[in-house]
Amino acid sequence: MDISGKTAIVTGAASGIGLGIATALAEAGANVVMADIQKDEVERAAHALSGTNKRVTAVRIDVTQEQSVLAALAEAERQFGKLHIACNNAGVPMHGTRLVDVPREDWDFVIGVNIWGVIHGIRHFLPAILKHGEDGHIVNTASVAGFQNRRGTDQGPYSMSKYAVVSLSEALEHELEGSKVGVSVLCPGPVNTNIPRGARNRPDHMGGPQLRSTNETVLAQRLATTGIDPNRVGERVVDAIRTKTFYAFVSAVPADVIKAGTGASRRR
Ligand SMILES: NC(=O)c1ccc[n+]([C@@H]2O[C@H](COP(=O)([O-])OP(=O)(O)OC[C@H]3O[C@@H](n4cnc5c(N)ncnc54)[C@H](O)[C@@H]3O)[C@@H](O)[C@H]2O)c1
Repeated sequence: MDISGKTAIVTGAASGIGLGIATALAEAGANVVMADIQKDEVERAAHALSGTNKRVTAVRIDVTQEQSVLAALAEAERQFGKLHIACNNAGVPMHGTRLVDVPREDWDFVIGVNIWGVIHGIRHFLPAILKHGEDGHIVNTASVAGFQNRRGTDQGPYSMSKYAVVSLSEALEHELEGSKVGVSVLCPGPVNTNIPRGARNRPDHMGGPQLRSTNETVLAQRLATTGIDPNRVGERVVDAIRTKTFYAFVSAVPADVIKAGTGASRRR
């Protein structure tokens, strides 16, 4: 679809991949609503991005809460009118802890942001896109972790949440076949972002901010050494929207990922 002049909402847009997606969409000529739980950071990011010919605004959202998603959508429509593109991107880590030791609040947190955040986006952003009858697109951020559980990383809860995002996206693509709304599932490999410190944004109703410095050190080191620039991921998303590409892999070898997902490596 043609992105120029369309309106997009991006969740988790204050940092990392969401910021990269918002930047690429703004550069492609979209009106961009940058939505994030970190109010000050997202306002700063939107201010930095808004320049000549860029129509960008910031809104606070907590994707775990339906009312907050509805309020952000209302604000997006108030400012820009019709919504065309929704990037359900906000996500948090749950790495370095064995399943049996993950506290209840952290299960709620990873499921709340990574799965419910996407479900709320499907339940509310999608009808807003469908109602005007113009072209539209939904992008859900999964991960290569949505196809494989890497041994030794103890990232089972995170991986589970990303398998769910892949599955929701596949089902959505089936349901929207033949409509004017496309679907992409974004599956990045390592990207150099702030995700290792994701528990800093644990909402108060899920136990509040948390430092898991020892748990997520390994992840931080891996991303700092092998992670790609989030702006490259943003460009991949713009390309996937323009070309209606469903599986949008970035910095991962799709054939390897899919082979792992079919169980060849699981039986070892
Ligand atoms: N960094 C990687 O290597 C990588 C790889 C594959 C997939 N991903 C996925 O990419 C997405 C973005 O992560 P990132 O790496 O850019 O991390 P990041 O921490 O840099 O950015 C995530 C953003 O989401 C926001 N957020 C967290 N909880 C929220 C909530 N409840 N409501 C609204 N916003 C919230 C944060 O404030 C932050 O700005 C996530 O879904 C993540 O799982 C990341």
